[in-house]
Amino acid sequence: MLLLIAGTCLVAFVLLLYMLSPLISPKPLALPGAHVVVTGGSSGIGKCIAIECYKQGAFITLVARNEERLLQAKKEIEKHSINDKQVVLCISVDVSQDYSQVENVIKQAQEKLGPVDMLINCAGMSVSGKFEDVEVSTFEKLMSINYLGSVYPSRAVITTMKERRVGRIVFLSSQAGQVGLFGYTAYSPSKFAIKGLAEALQMEVKPYNVYVTVAYPPDTDTPGFAEENKTKPLETRLISETTSICTPEQVAKQIVKDAIQGNFNSSIGSDGYMLSSLTCGMSPVTSITEGLQQVVTMGLFRMISLFYLGSFDNIIRRCMIERTKYGTADKTA
Ligand SMILES: NC(=O)c1ccc[n+]([C@@H]2O[C@H](COP(=O)([O-])OP(=O)(O)OC[C@H]3O[C@@H](n4cnc5c(N)ncnc54)[C@H](OP(=O)(O)O)[C@@H]3O)[C@@H](O)[C@H]2O)c1
Repeated sequence: MLLLIAGTCLVAFVLLLYMLSPLISPKPLALPGAHVVVTGGSSGIGKCIAIECYKQGAFITLVARNEERLLQAKKEIEKHSINDKQVVLCISVDVSQDYSQVENVIKQAQEKLGPVDMLINCAGMSVSGKFEDVEVSTFEKLMSINYLGSVYPSRAVITTMKERRVGRIVFLSSQAGQVGLFGYTAYSPSKFAIKGLAEALQMEVKPYNVYVTVAYPPDTDTPGFAEENKTKPLETRLISETTSICTPEQVAKQIVKDAIQGNFNSSIGSDGYMLSSLTCGMSPVTSITEGLQQVVTMGLFRMISLFYLGSFDNIIRRCMIERTKYGTADKTA
């Protein structure tokens, strides 16, 4: 009898939390007329995010280095306009080098299209290779582009966002920013760093109604991914092949949806859901439902992850045995 009452109370409590959940969630950001800045917006996931926001009525500033590719992307994005007032602005800058240059670019963009409502930090790159084969300069380069290249634009927009009590900042991490995998000794740390930055920043800006989203895309079919594949070690490739590849459109849709909602975490597919629950640690929650799901699923997901880790270790051992047997070079695919 006592057990039945306790069970009923628990179910009622969980139902109450579910009902209260929308009340503590952030108010969705309205994209029509909003100014969205997308770094890395001339290619891959960034370009698709810009298209997705443009389709919903936003004004876009695209930031990347190569001017030709920027103009090409602008033309593509403009095909999706929903009214004749919409604008796509292109600014060429390296987001990873000089903070004052990045600050100037944001100033220019704000003068033309108004204060930034949403910043998408998508500029980034990946290089894979075994620890001893990766040039030392590559470790610095990836940290610079993937980490500092997200710090600088965010630092340049944050004061205005806080003053206006409106804003969304999106960071592009990766599934390799949730779990360290063979071949990613240079890439993974630069994407793990993003999570630390995002968690600390979210705690600072939440009282100002500014919300941070960290996206963890899986392998996604983009020009950047094709480039990385040229030098990917066999082990990394075989591990990657255990999950399917997403399209940049799919990934962009999910990221934009989560950013509008102000969700801290943005993942895609069942692997993405599992990894995000498993690695949530003390990261912020934007709905009680999400928090409850993490509490309930964490143990089960840890068990499943042990099987994954075992199978990855097997792949790596098999590659090593084959190489020893056939005397092939211990390098890439
Ligand atoms: N594709 C995947 O499988 C995957 C998976 C997980 C996470 N991600 C992350 O998602 C983001 C986008 O990846 P993607 O595959 O779409 O890449 P992509 O197709 O190579 O596009 C990268 C974009 O970033 C710009 N960019 C690169 N370095 C820059 C810099 N220093 N300053 C300014 N702009 C710069 C590029 O333009 P310019 O070269 O002209 O500057 C381009 O617009 C990256 O952060 C990546 O790490 C990708």
